[in-house]
Amino acid sequence: MKHIVVLSGAGMSAESGISTFRDSGGLWEQHSIEDVATPEGFRRNPQLVLDFYNARRKAAFDALPNEGHIGVAEMEKDFKVSVFTQNVDNLHERAGSTNVVHLHGELDKVRSTADPSLIYTLTADKPEINLGDKCEKGSQLRPHIVWFGEAVPMIEKAMRIVQTADILVVIGTSLNVYPAAGLLNYIKQGVPVYLIDPNEVKTYQPGIHFIRKGASEGVKELRERLKLME
Ligand code: OAD
Repeated sequence: MKHIVVLSGAGMSAESGISTFRDSGGLWEQHSIEDVATPEGFRRNPQLVLDFYNARRKAAFDALPNEGHIGVAEMEKDFKVSVFTQNVDNLHERAGSTNVVHLHGELDKVRSTADPSLIYTLTADKPEINLGDKCEKGSQLRPHIVWFGEAVPMIEKAMRIVQTADILVVIGTSLNVYPAAGLLNYIKQGVPVYLIDPNEVKTYQPGIHFIRKGASEGVKELRERLKLME
């Protein structure tokens, strides 16, 4: 069975109603990265940061996987599929993907600010944390999200697995944020790369097959192209 590695970004979930970051009207037009996505921002105004992720968590709980997520999950019938997502929603898992690694954390989880191994899962009936919500050791809880300036704990695993890909599929990411964007450099020579995005994405990777479509239609086209290759 061929091994497909999928690298997904915010565009993967756009058709599920979740905002992207850098498109016009995206989250980083409405919020400052420094305020809501850095450890310094959290130290300065923790409730602002908690409110930002509380709102996003609620939106993610309300969202449903789109046909793109479902198509990626269905590819497991014909391929070994490893998904590395920069997304913090769990729509890949809810669509049925069984092998998903979150590079930038997970919205439905929160962790202790004192002991990062103390991780708790929130549910749709209690989707918020606020100042004063503490871990069992008495420290404030924070979102289980990788902020700018923090290490990306899953990146080494991702680098290792990308090297074993027979096909790399990149969906809905502007490839602006490293180290995730650098994963494209780890493929073996000659491995085909498909990039699904309705907009132009700047990359210096040679020989990319662009599918200039949204995630749902793009994944459908990808599956047709892969069938022709069999
Ligand atoms: P961006 O917002 O930077 O890029 C989203 C990409 O999705 C763009 O290339 C869009 O053209 C594309 N897109 C828009 N609609 C789409 C659709 N319907 N189908 C497919 N693609 C579509 O988001 P990311 O690249 O994921 O990190 O951003 C990477 C990281 O930057 C995020 O994980 C987040 C952010 O800061 C952290 O918060 C740590």
